Amino acid sequence: MKAEALKELLDSMSLAEKIGQLVQWNYAALAMTDAEVTGPETLRLSADAMKYFGSVLNFSSADEMIRLQKQYMSGGEHPVPLLFMMDVIHGYRTAFPIPLAQAGSFDPDLVRECAKAASAEAAAGGVHLTFTPMVDHVRDPRWGRVMESCGEDPYLSGIMGAAQVEGFRGKDLTDKNALAVCVKHYAGYGAPEGGRDYNQAELSEHVLREWYLPAYKACLDAGADMIMPSFNALNGIPSVANPWLMNQVLRDEWHFNGTVISDYNALDELITQGIAENRRHAAVLAMNCGCDIDMVSGCYASDLEKAVRDGLISEEQINTAAMRVLKVKNDLGLFEDPFHGASADPETVGNLVRQHRTLAEKAAVESAVLLKNNGVLPFAGSVKKVAVIGPFASSREIVGAWCCNCDTSETVTVAEGIRALLPDAEITAVSGCSARIGDKDGSMINEAVRAAENADCVVLCVGEEMECSGEGRSRASVTLPGMQAELVRRVTGANPVTAVVLFGGRPLDLTEIDAVSPALLEMWMPGTEGGTAVAKLLFGVAEPCGRLAMSFPKSVGQLPLFYARSNTGRPKQVPEDEYQPYCSNYMDCGNLPLYSFGHGLTYTEFRYDELRPEKTVLRAGEDLNVTVRLTNTGKRTGTEIVQLYINDKVSSVVTPVQKLAAFAKISLAPGESGEVRLTVSSERMRLWNFSGQSVIEPGEFEIFAGYADHPLLTRTFTVI
Ligand code: GLC
Repeated sequence: MKAEALKELLDSMSLAEKIGQLVQWNYAALAMTDAEVTGPETLRLSADAMKYFGSVLNFSSADEMIRLQKQYMSGGEHPVPLLFMMDVIHGYRTAFPIPLAQAGSFDPDLVRECAKAASAEAAAGGVHLTFTPMVDHVRDPRWGRVMESCGEDPYLSGIMGAAQVEGFRGKDLTDKNALAVCVKHYAGYGAPEGGRDYNQAELSEHVLREWYLPAYKACLDAGADMIMPSFNALNGIPSVANPWLMNQVLRDEWHFNGTVISDYNALDELITQGIAENRRHAAVLAMNCGCDIDMVSGCYASDLEKAVRDGLISEEQINTAAMRVLKVKNDLGLFEDPFHGASADPETVGNLVRQHRTLAEKAAVESAVLLKNNGVLPFAGSVKKVAVIGPFASSREIVGAWCCNCDTSETVTVAEGIRALLPDAEITAVSGCSARIGDKDGSMINEAVRAAENADCVVLCVGEEMECSGEGRSRASVTLPGMQAELVRRVTGANPVTAVVLFGGRPLDLTEIDAVSPALLEMWMPGTEGGTAVAKLLFGVAEPCGRLAMSFPKSVGQLPLFYARSNTGRPKQVPEDEYQPYCSNYMDCGNLPLYSFGHGLTYTEFRYDELRPEKTVLRAGEDLNVTVRLTNTGKRTGTEIVQLYINDKVSSVVTPVQKLAAFAKISLAPGESGEVRLTVSSERMRLWNFSGQSVIEPGEFEIFAGYADHPLLTRTFTVI
């Protein structure tokens, strides 16, 4: 529909119809079913108050979308098509690795491909818009939603978030495989006090500008259609009612004129947070902060019209909000095709799943991180007896907390993956214990030990259940739940040819098991083809190349912990396991992570031969081209993720001792040397100064190749 026609439609609508566009309900509330919802049960208003609405979430199939769309479009004077939304966070029916894992691939092309595949499945399933990407900046794995994030570096998060935006949206939103996207959760949600979900975040403007806001901006710049304010109070005001965040930064500074949707029931929760006196006050606060859609609280449906009649909100504000919603629908072509190409035939999605499993396997391989290997990996393919032990040995629940409509019965387990790879070997699968928090039952460990003793090699699968991370799943401890640490100790003691394979949605404190584990492979929640990927990685059919997008702590007491730390005036200058009085360090723990951001091993070795900046003197605003030369000195082909970090040596505000500035992947055969050419954007040299400006200050910068806390080659350059 042309813009003029859209305006004519808006002008012809009644106030009630326009407010209806701003109302979103759960499918369950409309269809009176008990479909899965993603938050507290929603309010059910009178039929009259629910007569007009604009969008729906949490439905389960194209058939449901088509039925409800037909029903809604058949009534009313101005039948405006409904917008169907869902959380397609890491796959729709085919589960891809969780976003925190995918970020560790350091491969935006792969992330874009996974989003594109998820988009095709979700669109076929009746979805028009996804609440993705989530690019909250995270520094604390006690918070369960780190699994949805792209990790602790805003530059990496921005690149991965933008890749998801491009993958879902494609070139044309009217394409039947494309989805509109909503970036979230704006802002500071990843910094809840105590690591406890929904808790308040107190962040200075300096820290917000440098760390917590850039990735959202990168996703909006990539074309995100919508943005979702976060539940948390940010510096005392919940985001959806925060004028600084929603008006000054988002609308006035960033000039975002897309749509804002509240988070689930967030308007009503303004009352609980003590910000709103009642539902009408909540509706007014949110509308005055540019919130266009009220997700399921019903505050707009029940109170906005009266607020307009009472002069608390202008009809112009309603028109602006309604037009933003109509525009998203128009961009998707819903006025021409309210079903966006979806078919009620469930096999449509099924066909796509078969196409996407290879990609899911590739993503699981490239997202996996080999944390440690004393040489025990890769296992020889000639082994005759393999013991697959642990609560995740035969589990299909390795798809992640936000796997949307995926069917876990389609997941390949680790035991199945190994059986498929080694059809002639004897595979024994034993759980040994559960992964449930607080489960102290170790009665099955002896059976696991016997299986280990009788095997040529052991695949020991431990970690956190997928329900232990994600929304509302905070932990005060981040160690292996239950008796798993005991299982690891006993099994590795019984057979040294053991690889410990980790599953979960957050960085764990692995200190207790690290010392006794010959090898540690972090699989995160790898998705539908997780078992296939584990088998190919452990037996050397695939090469591990993933890196950590978030630090693994030595202790929960170090949290929040992140690589881009400042030096302090008294940096620790003794070995990590020593204590230095009157310096910034702990008496009972090191400062550094157990495994740092950017860490990951391969099955070969790389020697870094040369780091060659094209210039050593730059004008402010100039990018810096750098060539890195390296050699594969091992016996196997390997893929290295070359990372460059910079350090602004002297600046008007404290800057981190290291900041990721560029990265690139290179695969080399044994003995082969190669070069990667990277560009350090001048944007990475910027800082947010005391006067509240983003500037590049003259002075000396250090640049190193390696990974966080592990410089391999270092040079300097000067900005004049
Ligand atoms: C949830 C989440 C948000 C999600 C929304 C809709 O509470 O906070 O990430 O998109 O509700 O499911």
